[in-house]
Amino acid sequence: MAITRSRATPAYAGQAYAITDHTFDVVVVGAGGAGLRATVGCSQAGLRTACISKVFPTRSHTVAAQGGVAASLGNMGKDTWQWHMYDTVKGSDWLGDQDAIEYLVRNAPAAVYELEHWGVPFSRTEGGKIYQRPFGGMTTEFGNGPPAQRTCAAADRTGHAMLHTLYGQALRYNTEFFIEYFAIDLIMDDDGACRGVIALKLDDGTLHRFRSQQTILATGGYGRAYFSATSAHTCTGDGGGMVLRAGLPLQDMEFVQFHPTGIYGAGCLITEGARGEGGYLTNSEGERFMERYAPSAKDLASRDVVSRSMTMEIRAGRGVGKNKDHIYLHLDHLDPKILHERLPGISESAKIFAGVDVTREPIPVLPTVHYNMGGIPTNFHGEVLTKEGGDPDRVVPGLMAIGEAACVSVHGANRLGSNSLIDLVVFGRAAGLRCAEVVKAGEKQPELPANSADLALTRLDKYRNAKGGTPTAVLRDRMQKTMQTNCAVYRTGETLEEGSKLIHQVWAGIEDIGTTDRSLIWNSDLVETLEFDNLITQAVVTMDSALQRPESRGAHAREDYPERDDKDWMKHTLAWIDDTARTVTLDDRPVHTYTLSNDIEYIKPKARVY
Ligand code: FUM
Repeated sequence: MAITRSRATPAYAGQAYAITDHTFDVVVVGAGGAGLRATVGCSQAGLRTACISKVFPTRSHTVAAQGGVAASLGNMGKDTWQWHMYDTVKGSDWLGDQDAIEYLVRNAPAAVYELEHWGVPFSRTEGGKIYQRPFGGMTTEFGNGPPAQRTCAAADRTGHAMLHTLYGQALRYNTEFFIEYFAIDLIMDDDGACRGVIALKLDDGTLHRFRSQQTILATGGYGRAYFSATSAHTCTGDGGGMVLRAGLPLQDMEFVQFHPTGIYGAGCLITEGARGEGGYLTNSEGERFMERYAPSAKDLASRDVVSRSMTMEIRAGRGVGKNKDHIYLHLDHLDPKILHERLPGISESAKIFAGVDVTREPIPVLPTVHYNMGGIPTNFHGEVLTKEGGDPDRVVPGLMAIGEAACVSVHGANRLGSNSLIDLVVFGRAAGLRCAEVVKAGEKQPELPANSADLALTRLDKYRNAKGGTPTAVLRDRMQKTMQTNCAVYRTGETLEEGSKLIHQVWAGIEDIGTTDRSLIWNSDLVETLEFDNLITQAVVTMDSALQRPESRGAHAREDYPERDDKDWMKHTLAWIDDTARTVTLDDRPVHTYTLSNDIEYIKPKARVY
């Protein structure tokens, strides 16, 4: 493996930091489903590939994905990619880019068969085919037919099965893994190209500079900006934070998905597959209220619709429990054999986190933050985009993003359940293919700019030696509570105005941040502060993007603007920050209202009912 190592000792605030240098063709940051799939693709193409991860790869958050991966295999009845495309466009509330959506759904079946051939232990039909279950918003006949059984499942541990299989595949190749390395900042040159990344090796405190022709960010979402989330505590949007600090925009950050069925109190996920297998929601009157809100799809309406309906029931005083502040999910009518075979994981979670035996009692649930539709803007090759010189789709040289960190945008204003796992592998593969086209294996790379480590090491040193009076945990708590209260399932101008004021105050509070551990070895105080720094900038742009969008679309439900406004607002939000002045700049770029091929026509906007 060709790695050049040299030493430099730049000084920051009087402190000298030795740096180990590495050179690769491609550096992938993140080892979840998308990162590993891209890593495999780049390695297969003969590119010298490094994969950096802050956790051991099989602990990445993909491991927690439950219900399945969407692809129109048609194993349980007729299905087509065109129907999948229609559902995804409608689910996105017409904010998704239709060229990218066509790319996703057309490549989905092959991506699932690839996983099957690599060894993912999918559940099986009697006939031995991959088992597929219904999921919210997935239909047949362009929304006119019965629910589609499109979500390929490995019981309710599909993400676990996929992640372990992908890691096994990645180990077949000559990839070098840098495990428990925390990426601090991108290296950008004067021409605006990305030239690599700086990372901290967590177990010994050494610093590493990775030079690469392409850097692929696969760092996941920033769910932990909120107080209650199904996301792991590691989901701190590190890639999004780095992109903002590099002076690049994030896109559509106001669209935050609440999963209808987080366990009340604990926030752990109860898969939508539970409703796919016949589970249903009830209020305090025992009513299956989804029949009123979505007469056709009922409990299998899309997530934004179900989360809003649950919130309306609670607000109307029909919540369950002592405080009437949550809803019941019933599985107790289902055959225990089915529960055992298809939903073993959530049966166990319900027991552990809610003390509920699902064969006898309903599970207490509440809409819980689950997914970020917004992220780093990219095209369907995974190349990062910015808006510059009148070009809304300008490619940032050397930088790519995939998975939840990215906004391709295939999910638009609302993602359909099980379209995330397929997004990971389809666009992880696409990024690998693109690298195979644009990267020349082993090509000599120009010297890095002299200041290549300045941004990263200045930040590192500042937080390592921060002597302010506010512990990181206090600021994080304020951020999470503000996001939970002021940027929730329903928003109003008033809550968002207040939220913007409060979240900017938390951002400014960084001036007074205080850490206590000055070491560099396993310094969780420092790493949590760097993670908080990533979260807070994304929280701020989420709030401000939500405030400026005066319409309701997908997961962005404004009570003061209840209608979708296609004339003025069918466009992507772009948000930049100035991390010194602590200001946000907003702009927009057009939604791609064209498809990839002539095999399907642009799907025109219409009212979104289920
Ligand atoms: O409900 C679930 O199993 C989650 C799936 C998803 O977010 O795609």
